[in-house]
Amino acid sequence: MDQMNLFELGVEKILSKPIDTNQLINLIENPEIQTGISHKDMIAVRISEIQKRTHNPCDLYLLMGKQKIIKVFSAGLPIEAKRLDRLLKNDVRHLYAKKKEILTIPSQFYVPVRISTLIKDQAIPCEFYYKSGEEYKLLLKTGTIVAQAHFDILKKHKTKKLFINDRDEALYQRYLENQIDAILQNPQVSSEQKSEVMFDLMQNCLQNVFTQPNNENIDSMKKAQQTLQGYLAEDKTALQEIIRLSKEEQGIYAHSIGVATLAYAIVLEMGLLKKTSKEGDHQKSLSAFSFESKEVRDIVFLGGLLHDVGKTILNMSHLALSPNFEQNAPSSIELYKTHPKVGYERLKNAKGIPPKALEVILQHEELCDGSGFPNGLTKANISIYTQLITLANHFDHLHRQQKKKGPECVLALKLESAKYNKHLLFVLEKMFNVPKKS
Ligand SMILES: [Fe+2]
Ligand SMILES: [Fe+2]
Repeated sequence: MDQMNLFELGVEKILSKPIDTNQLINLIENPEIQTGISHKDMIAVRISEIQKRTHNPCDLYLLMGKQKIIKVFSAGLPIEAKRLDRLLKNDVRHLYAKKKEILTIPSQFYVPVRISTLIKDQAIPCEFYYKSGEEYKLLLKTGTIVAQAHFDILKKHKTKKLFINDRDEALYQRYLENQIDAILQNPQVSSEQKSEVMFDLMQNCLQNVFTQPNNENIDSMKKAQQTLQGYLAEDKTALQEIIRLSKEEQGIYAHSIGVATLAYAIVLEMGLLKKTSKEGDHQKSLSAFSFESKEVRDIVFLGGLLHDVGKTILNMSHLALSPNFEQNAPSSIELYKTHPKVGYERLKNAKGIPPKALEVILQHEELCDGSGFPNGLTKANISIYTQLITLANHFDHLHRQQKKKGPECVLALKLESAKYNKHLLFVLEKMFNVPKKS
């Protein structure tokens, strides 16, 4: 594969002058200072070359005086056009990469796509590649009509994922958007395949909104959200499939879909409990939350999808609540604690995000007993929407990161029940049939 395409053009042999502290304040909110790297390990790359890529080809940094280095973009994530514009407006013309990393940068960036998103008898929207060793080889040309024979070959080679060029991601997303209704209504397509296509579409939409929250991207995401909610409400298998997929996939987008789906499932369960349960105390408390209204359900789902948007802005998707969380550097923990506010600030003026969903983004790390952050709010001051998303969020961390089974997650949450709304915890218990005595 041809290497160094970007830097053959964009690398500067002479380092530019490092920026100063005043300039940095204009450029980055919450700068994350790197340790263990020196200016001499870095090489300058012209921003004009970075703009030609859709994904960050490697970690990219700003240099400051006294050997300080600030990370601006993480490798592999879509390039945030807004942040790049801000740098250019402030006359920053270079970012820096580690010399060692530049040597291994491929000329193209490929993103994995699921085979189930290839639809039989339909023309594909872009080139599809397969991976052979370290190389990506062309498998299907743009416009190829997908036939059974293609699936047979892929099955024979036990190929699980294909790849597309990152420049084709928008085309691929439009293809999924155009196909999704027909796929979900097609009785020949299995629940597994329907869920996979839906899941991939939602992941793409979220990636676009998290990196570029413009009207077009928000509208596409909300449209996909409606389709996904309709699909989940219709079919219990769909709920299980989407939760399964969110557990299998790594990353912030899968986590967000998992949280939204679980929170939505809790709301649906409330409807069932209302009809069957004799537990009057729980019912009475939850009846104030009009969970049968579409508006409420939409806010719950949207709040789940967007709650962690701040992590992407801070490039901190890798950090999350876990037993080892406190072992992270204090500066990383402090920065992490700003993600609810950073996410809220990013979306507060975006069109089409209701105030209650914005509130979820801002409050989702608060806990009923006051031990959360950033403001240590207690239950009376945390919205019921947030309490629901917080519960789903922590369940998802246990389910995905610690690989616990559903009932085990509920039991773990019950050990810290003061942190959560006990009535919502009760609904979760019912959903997973947790034995009462445990
Ligand atoms: Fe969070
Ligand atoms: Fe989260």
